[in-house]
Amino acid sequence: MASQSRHVSEWIDRRAADVYEYASDPANLPKWAPGLGSAVEEVDGHWFVETPSGRAGFAFVGRNEYGVLDHEVTLPSGEVVHNPMRVVPDGDACEVVFTLRRLADMTDEDFARDASLVQADLTRLKHLLEGSEPSPGRAPEWAGSVRIGGMNTKPVNLTEALASFDDVYSPRIVARMNDYDVRIAHTLGEHVWHVHEDTDEFFLVLDGRFDIAIRDAAGVETTVVLHKGDTFVVPKGTEHKPSSPGGSILMFEPSGTLTTGDRHEGEVPGNVDSTTGHELP
Ligand code: NI
Repeated sequence: MASQSRHVSEWIDRRAADVYEYASDPANLPKWAPGLGSAVEEVDGHWFVETPSGRAGFAFVGRNEYGVLDHEVTLPSGEVVHNPMRVVPDGDACEVVFTLRRLADMTDEDFARDASLVQADLTRLKHLLEGSEPSPGRAPEWAGSVRIGGMNTKPVNLTEALASFDDVYSPRIVARMNDYDVRIAHTLGEHVWHVHEDTDEFFLVLDGRFDIAIRDAAGVETTVVLHKGDTFVVPKGTEHKPSSPGGSILMFEPSGTLTTGDRHEGEVPGNVDSTTGHELP
């Protein structure tokens, strides 16, 4: 039995009936939920999706006027997964809510990654349906890059960027401005005590929880507990050690700043990448 659920949701600035109409058509699945299946096929009224692990059956509950998009996925193994999903109207807009069930053998990391993937799908659905193109089946306009004043620039969606990798404490650079990087990272477990002698370090918690232990000049340690939406700046020259039960963060710091600082205490743990940041795929 599922012991835990997480409700992943997205507001869409379209009428609930329009969103239901689009999302309830299995033929549209690969456009907004490519993580579920790359191709769909209808055989004798039954829908199948191509998944990385093989062909899976897919069925929505019967057509209804309540925005219920509950669906069953029959995995190649024969296991049937029931996914509750609903479009909830709010005037001329709506909220799409997907209930993600935690399966018995899922680790915290698996569960968090699944939630990120579902969130990315719902965000994609939002972009498709809010796009100005008359046909919602077109690729989103922001998928292309634009060249402005010699800088190669393209919009980056943080939810999708986070879903594109899963290693922890291994920041990806999502943007550069002046001499600074905007980086994102998944967080889990203990980081290492370290210090940046010449720069402050800015943190914004995007999801989950992220704690930063800091040590003052007298050696007294305090821990700052941060939740989704919280920001914090570690001043330069301050010894600090992040830790997290699971989450994701955004950092703002000078390009070239090393994740483990100018100096660190003891061995760098295996779950920490000593890096100045990686490019997004
Ligand atoms: Ni640091």
